[in-house]
Amino acid sequence: MHSESPTTLVRAQERGTAGRATAVAHPNIALIKYWGKRDEHLILPRVDSLSMTLDVFPTTTCVRLAPGAGHDKVTLNGRPAEGEALRRVVAFLDLVRERAGSAHRAVVDSENTVPTGAGLASSASGFAALAVAAAASYGLDLDATALSRLARRGSGSASRSIFGDFAMWHAGLDSGTATEADLSSHAEPVPAGDLDPALVIAVVNAGPKAVSSREAMRRTVDTSPLYEPWAVSSKGDLTEMRAALLAGDIEAVGEIAERNALGMHATMLAARPAVRYLSPATLTVLDSVLRLRREGIPAYATMDAGPNVKVLCRRTDADRVAETMSETVPDGSVLVAKPGPGARLLRGDGR
Ligand code: PMV
Repeated sequence: MHSESPTTLVRAQERGTAGRATAVAHPNIALIKYWGKRDEHLILPRVDSLSMTLDVFPTTTCVRLAPGAGHDKVTLNGRPAEGEALRRVVAFLDLVRERAGSAHRAVVDSENTVPTGAGLASSASGFAALAVAAAASYGLDLDATALSRLARRGSGSASRSIFGDFAMWHAGLDSGTATEADLSSHAEPVPAGDLDPALVIAVVNAGPKAVSSREAMRRTVDTSPLYEPWAVSSKGDLTEMRAALLAGDIEAVGEIAERNALGMHATMLAARPAVRYLSPATLTVLDSVLRLRREGIPAYATMDAGPNVKVLCRRTDADRVAETMSETVPDGSVLVAKPGPGARLLRGDGR
C-alpha cells in the first residue's frame, strides 16, 4: 500500500513552489460506479462511489502563473487545447482564482499517457493533477479532503484520484444549503484487507467515445426507467463492497463490482434514446471472463463510458488473465495495473 499520507499532499508554501507547480495523478477505476448528477454545476452525484487508483497512465500537469497575460494558455500533450477541453480547464482555473483572490492567468501544460475520452478515466487523472498543481501555484493551502472537493468540480471521478489505493466518494448531504452539500461531497481512503489485486485492462478501442459521460448521465437520469432501481441497489452494493474489501475477499469484491457495472450499463441501454458504450468486442471479452471463472480463476469485469474492459483478479493470476485477454482481442492492447498512489506535487517542481 502507498505510504505518502494524503493529508501531507499539498503544502505549497512549505515546498516553496507558489507561482509554479507540477503535479502527477493516476486514473482510478470505479468498483461501485458514479453515474448521474443531482447538481450539474457543483458536480454533486446521485450515488456514492468507490474506486481503485491505478499505478499506470499518469497525468503530469504544470501550472505557471502568467501575470499580465490576457488569457490562460493550455496545452494537452504538447498541442494547444481548444473547444470544450479548453473551456473546462479555464472554468476550473476561474474557480481556483476566485478562491485565491487572484486575477492572474496561467500557463498549463498537461501530459496525459492514457487515451483521452475512451472511458479509461483520463479526466480523473487530468483534473486531479490540475487541482493539485493549480492549488499550489495559486498559493492555496489545501488538505487532501479540500483537494478532492476541488478536483470534483473539474470531473466527478477526479475527486477519487486524489487518494491512492481504494477511495470512496461521498455523494454528500442532500438537504441543507448548496455550501453544505458542496462541503460534504468528497472522497476519502477506504481500508482494505490483504487483497493483492490487479486490474487487467483490455483496450478494445482507444478512440474517443461518441457520447460524453456528461450527456449520457443526463439522458440516463432523465429518461431511463431503470435508473432509480439501480441507484437504490447501488447503496447496498457499496455497503457490501466495503465489507468485502476489509475482509480481503477478492471473489466478493469482483462479484459486486461486476454486477454494479452491468447494472449501470443496463440503465443506459434503457435510456431514451439508448446509450450503448459496449461493443461486440466488449461482449467477447465478457465471455472470456466467464470462461476464466469456469476454469477456477476469480476474474471479474467492469466497464465505464466506453467499450474497454477492466478485469479484476488476484495479482498472482494477472499474467494468465492478461494472456487470455490478448488472445481474445488480438487487435487490442492489454496491460496489467495494480493499486497506485494518490495525486502529489513533484518535489522541486519536477525541474
Ligand atoms: O468523471 P466523469 O464525468 O468522466 O464520469 C465517469 C463515470 C464513470 O467512469 C462511468 C464511472 C465512475 O465512477 O468512474
